[in-house]
Amino acid sequence: EEIRKEHCDVVIVGTGISGLYTALNISGKYEIKLLTKDKINESNSNLAQGGIAACINKENNINLHIEDTLRAGRYYNDKKSVKILVEEARENIKKLIEIGAIFDKDEHGNIMLTREGGHSERRILHSKDQTGKEVIRSLTEEVKKRKNIKVDEETFVIDLLTYKNKCIGVLVKDDKEIYALLAKAVVLSTGGIGQVYKNTTNSSIATGDGISMAYRVGAKIVDMEFVQFHPTAFYNEKDRKRFLISEAVRGEGAVLRNSKDEAFMENYHKLKDLAPRDIVAKAILIEIKKENNPNVYLDITHRDENFIKNRFPYIYDECLKKGINISKEYIPVCPVQHYIMGGIKADYKGRTNIDYLYACGESASTGVHGANRLASNSLLDGIVFGNRIAQDINIKIGSKSIYNLNLKYKHNKDELKCDLNKIKERIREVMNRYAFILRGKEGLNKACEIIETIIKELNSYSKDSIEYYECVNMAYVAYLIITSALKRKESLGSHIMVRDLGGENFV
Ligand code: SIN
Repeated sequence: EEIRKEHCDVVIVGTGISGLYTALNISGKYEIKLLTKDKINESNSNLAQGGIAACINKENNINLHIEDTLRAGRYYNDKKSVKILVEEARENIKKLIEIGAIFDKDEHGNIMLTREGGHSERRILHSKDQTGKEVIRSLTEEVKKRKNIKVDEETFVIDLLTYKNKCIGVLVKDDKEIYALLAKAVVLSTGGIGQVYKNTTNSSIATGDGISMAYRVGAKIVDMEFVQFHPTAFYNEKDRKRFLISEAVRGEGAVLRNSKDEAFMENYHKLKDLAPRDIVAKAILIEIKKENNPNVYLDITHRDENFIKNRFPYIYDECLKKGINISKEYIPVCPVQHYIMGGIKADYKGRTNIDYLYACGESASTGVHGANRLASNSLLDGIVFGNRIAQDINIKIGSKSIYNLNLKYKHNKDELKCDLNKIKERIREVMNRYAFILRGKEGLNKACEIIETIIKELNSYSKDSIEYYECVNMAYVAYLIITSALKRKESLGSHIMVRDLGGENFV
């Protein structure tokens, strides 16, 4: 049947840092709809702890930030993209501060900078250990002040609407109906994919919706084999969502230890505990296997309790709630899924291969992170490329009109004959077993077969429910990760192929 249509100039899907910042940089004369399937502040950006990397001081060396980003990314990065990221950091941080983001300052009023893995100097701005929350707070407050931006929460985008290789809007479901929202440009800033793995630092909404819907309309999806596993999430047998212990804790001197109390990172890399993330995650996995233990430990007990409480109040409190006083006891940690480097292919202006469809933030891939993202470059990616998208939209949509096609949608109110929770569990189990940190060809082939069967089964049904759409999105994302991983035969960065693995991971 025919469905209701609404119009606006620009639709932005997702309210993490890149979505909000893009909206704020689009000219006030355009009417923008910002859609989120949850609440405005439910996102991976909001959970970001460590900070934003940016050369903001004269002493900071831009070339070093470029080099660190490339080295961490195994030189697989798009070099021009990295140059843009690093060179445009300062002006965008300035804008963020003007908007109202507050970063930690020393007693002289200078912004304090920290270090994380793979950084050769201090260049990370932070707001204690909840930098993402502070940035999202400031952006949200500003968005709410803008008359041209309307935020629709609990509004799920089912699919992109395209016509002759142009994106003309989105198909939306809210609590009342399914309708078409037509626009001159659509920006996908839908974030990550953590929910396809058993354990993740990501928000529960990170089901890869944007990547999956872009794939379904023929947008290029690249580098999906590069999934980043954060080395230090709080180990807890029960919880699927794991609490992140920021790399900034290691930046302030914390040391990884195995159960024999050995500071093992010195056996793996010259930067020891501050080696790039993929190296630390792999080292931990090897130690875990060697010791037949589910976790290793992070030790910051040599630092003063007041320093820890002041610098990492959130981590201190959360660990205390979990029974660990981190100033006196080691923190049990293990690697879990954290980020995806790949995603919807976007050029230097955030454009995809579908006209008027843009992508930014974690759901996009400009090639900036290469095969392994440098710590604290993700929030920066969100603002630098978000701003670039906004500038392109400002130029491009002025004289454009909205396609006004009649749209039909077949509603599906049938009962599902499958248990979606069980399918989601199955996807996670398969991804953890065969597409975790270490991968083998045999295992990936098995995984591919299972996921293809799941996709077939899901496509044999149809249902107007968000749980169903999310499950389909997760299945496609899993498929994209596995098939990309199968194509890359050699290890590179976060994609580690192990020949003698017998197909299965041990975690
Ligand atoms: C962290 O605080 O360790 C996370 C930072 C990041 O993912 O870049």
